[in-house]
Amino acid sequence: MDDLEELNEQQAAAELERLARVIAEHDSRYHGDDAPVISDAEYDALRGRNRELEELFPALVRPDSPSRKVGSSVQSKFEKITHEVPMLSLDNAFSDDDVTDFVNRVRRFLKWPDDKPLQLTAEPKIDGLSLALRYEQGELVSAATRGDGTVGENVTANARTISEIPHKLNGVGLPDVVEIRGEVYLGKKDFQALNDRMEAEGKPTYVNPRNTAAGSLRQLDSNITASRPLRFFAYAWGAMSDMPGASQFNMVNLFEDWGFAINPLMGRYDTVEGLIGQYRIIEQQRASLDYDIDGVVYKVDDLDLQRRLGFVSRSPRWAIAHKFPAELATTLLKEIEIQVGRTGALSPVARLEPVTVGGVVVSNATLHNEDYIAGIGSNGEPIREGRDLRVGDTVTIYRAGDVIPKVMDVDLSKRPADSQAFVFPEICPACGSAAVREVNAKTGRPDSVRRCTGGLVCPAQAVEGLKHFVSRNAFDIDGLGDKQAEAFYEWGLIANAADIFTLKERDERSLTRLKNRDGFGDTSAANLFDSIDARRTVDLHRFIFALGIRHVGEGNAKLLARHYHTIEAFMAAMDGAASFDSDAWEELTNIDGIGETAARAVVQFFAEPHNRTVTDELLVHVTTIPAEQASSDSPVAGKTIVFTGSLEQMTRDEAKAMAERLGAKVSGSVSARTDLVVAGPGAGSKLKKAESLDVDVIDEDGWFKLVGR
Ligand code: IVH
Repeated sequence: MDDLEELNEQQAAAELERLARVIAEHDSRYHGDDAPVISDAEYDALRGRNRELEELFPALVRPDSPSRKVGSSVQSKFEKITHEVPMLSLDNAFSDDDVTDFVNRVRRFLKWPDDKPLQLTAEPKIDGLSLALRYEQGELVSAATRGDGTVGENVTANARTISEIPHKLNGVGLPDVVEIRGEVYLGKKDFQALNDRMEAEGKPTYVNPRNTAAGSLRQLDSNITASRPLRFFAYAWGAMSDMPGASQFNMVNLFEDWGFAINPLMGRYDTVEGLIGQYRIIEQQRASLDYDIDGVVYKVDDLDLQRRLGFVSRSPRWAIAHKFPAELATTLLKEIEIQVGRTGALSPVARLEPVTVGGVVVSNATLHNEDYIAGIGSNGEPIREGRDLRVGDTVTIYRAGDVIPKVMDVDLSKRPADSQAFVFPEICPACGSAAVREVNAKTGRPDSVRRCTGGLVCPAQAVEGLKHFVSRNAFDIDGLGDKQAEAFYEWGLIANAADIFTLKERDERSLTRLKNRDGFGDTSAANLFDSIDARRTVDLHRFIFALGIRHVGEGNAKLLARHYHTIEAFMAAMDGAASFDSDAWEELTNIDGIGETAARAVVQFFAEPHNRTVTDELLVHVTTIPAEQASSDSPVAGKTIVFTGSLEQMTRDEAKAMAERLGAKVSGSVSARTDLVVAGPGAGSKLKKAESLDVDVIDEDGWFKLVGR
């Protein structure tokens, strides 16, 4: 188009208006789960044009200019709503055996006799996005997306445009507060019609119904949402002032009476065979249903049992999603690339001839690790005679739900005669350090992953660590995304996480100011410093997650934060846990949900002096908000409890989960730091020790009296 310098003020204003609109639209397609329709380079060119024009006409910078929201702040375009009851996810089962294991696990946890029937429901897993609808006195007052499970986005105005979401509930004797949860989705036929319309208008088409539903619900303009025929199935609930039903099945049927659509394929069964029978029926109907489903969800029916079973990390123990097998496609393996991750792992990635799998175009797929390429299975045995993966091969790839595509197999009959076996690098492609496979202490076999030994010398590891640190569920620094993290590292401005917080101060003294650098201007630099300042106080769990400790994802970070409450207590405990016969180590490994691998990784992380230095330095600039303890008003909150002897009204697992839910720490051995011992019949040495140390001892009835059940 025109040369920017030639534009007069009026033309420039019009062009800035257009750019703001177009960039916002692409941002929302990109971040709002919708599919991006332009390449990164085209997107960057649009932003570059906007920046240049703003520099030429500084007086015309718009309040909604894209330069004021570097890297897009779409995530904050809606108000936040904190879920009174967190919105969790489901564990997956991939085979009939996994389902049997699940039911056995539930029975064991509850000590349910083998011959006593245990009822579970089975229903389709809808491939849409979950929504929580709050009704007070029967009136819809708010609608929130799942978000990170704790905090979601307020999309009430948009939810009101969905005809299957009642504004007022039917029925008498409704609880004062009712929170219905379910799935928003777009029907397959409606999706097709929408795409036909887009195509007729010469506009880009949408990728799949799920992403389109997500994008439609997260529109700032409710008229757009209203123009998309979104639908809603109710299948669960959150906060309820009263429970009008005693089982999953009855609750969901009540929802229908109240005015919701419920899925007609929900059934109730008391054997694994019954559940799997329903799975097969649903699977057979899958193609003819007008909505996408990706599996079948089983839920323990009795709500008292659901309460006893509780949760592990982020999923209920009482439910599981039995996923359908993944969809397959065949394509050409064009290249094998090695990427270096945050923990130094060398990950092979397949570059593929683009192909559509399950409605999405795939051009990259993971190849897992070196052995997988060489055709060696995780048991150390060849996967199949002569099966390795080579550039030039024709491969089958699969994609299950949202997970990254994987290469499943190779068609050896189509292998070119001159193909060469792939040689996995033994030096890190990013820094040239040796890349090694450690020997796994448990199996005595080399680890499947080859890791760069360069540590912080390795730019790939340092940059990936920074990207993780600023990512959405960690520090979530607006305007400091992947691209900026790479640029800052390259410019030598940020080498580790602590440097982020001294950036502004150093910039003020620097000759090359950030505002003069590529991709930045006065406004964007100032905005970035503001958003960094806004993160000088963060929740403890975000801080722990951001450190990038191996095996410590968001779920484990939350468990650790909730258990130790403050950063000081947490770090002191990790020092103490460095010796494996310490109480601190026992306490750590006793946290429900923290396995030994994660426990070792945390302890090792803090034992490494460099990690210690960076963490300490971070804490000079950052204040952590102590985590809420599980339940601070319970009589056992903060107490250390030991269960011993045989328990009769609850299993040991159940006792532990209950105590932890109430904010107590459960330990396996009695020491001077034990506050309470709950002893059942047959208690021996632990009871004696408690008595000798003068620790309070109660029996199981005393426990129920104490915790009020
Ligand atoms: S029950 C505690 N039932 O699956 C979890 N979820 O992986 C309660 N979903 O975020 C969820 N269909 O968006 C449940 N029939 C169904 C479902 C379903 C789809 C989604 C939901 C949830 C995700 C969990």
